Amino acid sequence: MTTSPAVEALSTPAQYEAAIARVRAAARAYYGGDGDTAAESVLDDATYDRELLAIAAYEEAHPGETSADSPTHQVAAGAAPAGDVAHTVPMLSLDNVFSAEQLAAWGESLQRRLGRPVEGGFTVEPKLDGAAVAARYRDGRLVQVVTRGDGRFGEDVSHVIGTVEGLPELLETPVTVEVRGEVLFTQAQFERANEIRAEHGAKVFSNPRNGAAGTLRAKDRPYRLAMTFWAYGAVPLDGGSFLPEGAPHSEVLALLSRAGVRTTRDNPAALLRVRTVEEARARVEEIQAMRPSLPFGIDGVVVKADDAAEQRAAGFGSRFPYWAIAYKLPAVERTTRLLDVEWNVGRTGVLAPRARLEPVELDGSVVEYATLHNPADIRRRDLHIGDTVTVYKAGDIIPRVQAAVVALRPADAVAVPLPEACPHCGGAVDRSQERWRCVKGAACRLPALIAYAAQRDCLDIDGLGATYVNALVASGAVADIADLYTLDLETLTAASGSAKRGASLLAQIEAARARPLSRQLCALGIRNTGRRLSQRIAAHFRTMDAVRAADAEAMREVEGIGPEKAPGIVAALAELGPVIDKMAAAGADLTEPVDPGAGEGPLVGEDGRPMKVVVTGKMTGPLADLGRTGVKDLIERAGGRAGDTVTAETAYLVAAPAAGGKLSSKAAKAQKLGVTVIGPEEFAELVADHLA
Ligand code: IVH
Repeated sequence: MTTSPAVEALSTPAQYEAAIARVRAAARAYYGGDGDTAAESVLDDATYDRELLAIAAYEEAHPGETSADSPTHQVAAGAAPAGDVAHTVPMLSLDNVFSAEQLAAWGESLQRRLGRPVEGGFTVEPKLDGAAVAARYRDGRLVQVVTRGDGRFGEDVSHVIGTVEGLPELLETPVTVEVRGEVLFTQAQFERANEIRAEHGAKVFSNPRNGAAGTLRAKDRPYRLAMTFWAYGAVPLDGGSFLPEGAPHSEVLALLSRAGVRTTRDNPAALLRVRTVEEARARVEEIQAMRPSLPFGIDGVVVKADDAAEQRAAGFGSRFPYWAIAYKLPAVERTTRLLDVEWNVGRTGVLAPRARLEPVELDGSVVEYATLHNPADIRRRDLHIGDTVTVYKAGDIIPRVQAAVVALRPADAVAVPLPEACPHCGGAVDRSQERWRCVKGAACRLPALIAYAAQRDCLDIDGLGATYVNALVASGAVADIADLYTLDLETLTAASGSAKRGASLLAQIEAARARPLSRQLCALGIRNTGRRLSQRIAAHFRTMDAVRAADAEAMREVEGIGPEKAPGIVAALAELGPVIDKMAAAGADLTEPVDPGAGEGPLVGEDGRPMKVVVTGKMTGPLADLGRTGVKDLIERAGGRAGDTVTAETAYLVAAPAAGGKLSSKAAKAQKLGVTVIGPEEFAELVADHLA
């Protein structure tokens, strides 16, 4: 589960005031623009939350110094344009928690307020990452839409009526009620919105949430952008009696839903009723797991006491109710700096840009690279090297750069340079389409890919040197790896210039076809999967069908594949689908035999699992000439697994005795953790039976 974001403590009044100024500026930029020229928020969400927590901590420690207009007391940090429409009932915000412990503590505080346990249960629903609005229906007709504003007064944004899915202009029953909920762009709507904006020469939105807030405010655009609404509550309007007195939250939403308004019940991460905070926590985890596959952004999960009387008894603070809490999920969007753009050439010759970033933590992992689409898109987004950019990650999808925060552009920033020549072969570039290509197309990278596949570690087609590969590619006989398996004697004779060599190549190709899955996988040349990882993937899944069926989560079960690598591997396998089908049709073996030696050897633990061995420093004795990979192979042959860092699970650290008594950092750590440190020669004796 999530942990609280680390808070940098504020220790002086000046630091406290400066933090308030930063939060205020960020909130003003976010809420204050007119929708099209809106300055981007200069703090990302996670940083904003951290700043607010630090301000609150300072105020708790120095109650006498609390600023009268502290953002901790105000909805939207006091920066939202208030507008002139009075809310009938204030539109409040939610307090946040960041961990299971904090959620439990909230449950206990609620119980204390009630003086007894909660009896009416809780609802758990997604926290939609958009903009809050109140939608007023009179006699079933949508007559006014109002932003949250400062919580007491909002802006009239009725111009969006008719463009918001889930917020119909006419309800099925002629009811009078004020529906409250969140307006946002789904991912598909967001992409469409940015296409439309680009067509109109408008700046693309940096993210769906800013886009939604801007679209609400922008009243005179020459185009309209579709958004989606989900209701999370309702209040009476004009004394209407649509909402039964004392109805629980879940029932109010059911009523709205029946009347034709989309609510958090009508959502892939649908509202669920539970009895206890513990059950609510389990549902939070479920929704968190669903998050990557949701077609819109959520930034948390909201837990509410369901019963109206219990809500009333718990009451409200100045900014939020005590009967509801937002469990914030780790940020999937952060800002960081664009350091460079690198260009790779794909299998088909497409030039693919990727952004190198100042490392930033995103959804629990550190991100250093993010995808960019193509040169036209880079120009549309007006990206400069040195820009502060928003980086976004939606679950399985590889992080991508959304937009530059133009307000923070350094004076010396330069527009991202576009390649003059093919970065792989130096040849000409075809710029006729949005996606630029090497004019050689697939032939640009193919010889290198085939040569890689023919290596000893992969298919081991020893006789297939660079010259023959080039001849096969040039003649069109080989357009992908699978084509190797369809070559006949005649073609191989022509490519190698001799019938004898042709026959030998044909025999080697025959042998290659029968090599196990690990080798065939390796031959595909998927980025980030060399020989070792291909072996592990094959050993884990056993068949190519199972490998292809794996999603990123399943792929992460393979040792050595983390959250960074998994999505790329899954995507590459999907892209290679047709090639793999061709390999199968040509009779390649796409299964992995069960290793008869597995589960045996001196490095198999008592529990039957491989022991972890870490190797450091110079090797001596029989291990001296093996090299890093050789030693790792040896460890695996002996039933163990090789690791890079010493942890409590490490069984052995193999290290030469400390010279002059000075321990390496790994040895020091091993000593601290009680891990056995063993010299290279002693280790060689232990695994002597497995030395090649
Ligand atoms: S309930 C009095 N439920 O999150 C309680 N709010 O950070 C009012 N939000 O102002 C809010 N999804 O704009 C509630 N399922 C949900 C929500 C939700 C998104 C927004 C809402 C609120 C903000 C607080």
